[in-house]
Amino acid sequence: MSGVVGVVLAGGEASRLGELTRITNKHLLPVGKVPMIYHSLKRLEEAGIGEVCLVTGQNHAGDFIDILGDGRVVGREGRVLIDLNLTYKVQKRAGGIAEALSLTKHFVGDNKVVVILGDNIIGGSIDAYVDAFRKQKSGARLLLKKVKDPWRFGVVEIEKGSISQIVEKPKKPKSNLVQIGVYMYDNGVFGIISKLKPSKRRELEITDVNMHYVKEGTIEFDILTHWWTDAGTLDSLGEANRLAFRDWKLLGF
Ligand code: DAU
Repeated sequence: MSGVVGVVLAGGEASRLGELTRITNKHLLPVGKVPMIYHSLKRLEEAGIGEVCLVTGQNHAGDFIDILGDGRVVGREGRVLIDLNLTYKVQKRAGGIAEALSLTKHFVGDNKVVVILGDNIIGGSIDAYVDAFRKQKSGARLLLKKVKDPWRFGVVEIEKGSISQIVEKPKKPKSNLVQIGVYMYDNGVFGIISKLKPSKRRELEITDVNMHYVKEGTIEFDILTHWWTDAGTLDSLGEANRLAFRDWKLLGF
């Protein structure tokens, strides 16, 4: 019987973190008391997803294996911090989020997939949203959040209770609602990615994947109730740390 598996994307090139990523990978920098990547893995574990594929760039792939091993991570005090079955894939060049996801086609097989970007930090469990997706027959499901700086993200427009448009980093956003980096798909997603054309920045865009489901009328969404931030810029990494230390007990470690 097919179920739901997880994918965490930690490829790409962090170009916005200056000196911090000179010697290590963005996703291994600290957020609260743990490396950034632990947060996405924890969200999947809490949602009852035990099989996860981690996509990394080639440069620091060995560091991810050193720190995460087979997916059961025991902290220095002997407590189990993460308990998953991890599989790894290497993305050779930063060809976009959708390209990174395409590498997991065989891992996902007949299952549905919950994808989390490795630089997204969420202030609590996503299990209720994953449960809703488990009940959804087919299509995709997004998590949305209102933000003050929508132009940095994929901006979502809603009409009559449904998503009508998603625009990647618009100069003049039509709403302040954005798609966070949690995407849930049926396994038709790999057929959709295989037909995508690279964008102007030479990437296969996840927004194009999501727009395919919008046009098909098979996309659902939830508004995330927890706080959320990315951690890919100096400002947002600072904010992620402030929130993570403030609410450490809610983060499951
Ligand atoms: O954080 C949410 C936003 O993430 C969404 O609102 C946007 O629609 C979506 O495009 C994305 O925007 P970013 O510009 O923030 O994505 P970025 O290129 O920074 O990549 C985010 C993560 O995705 C990164 O931490 C690792 C992974 N990634 C990215 C690229 C480009 C890969 O694994 N491979 C890649 O080639």
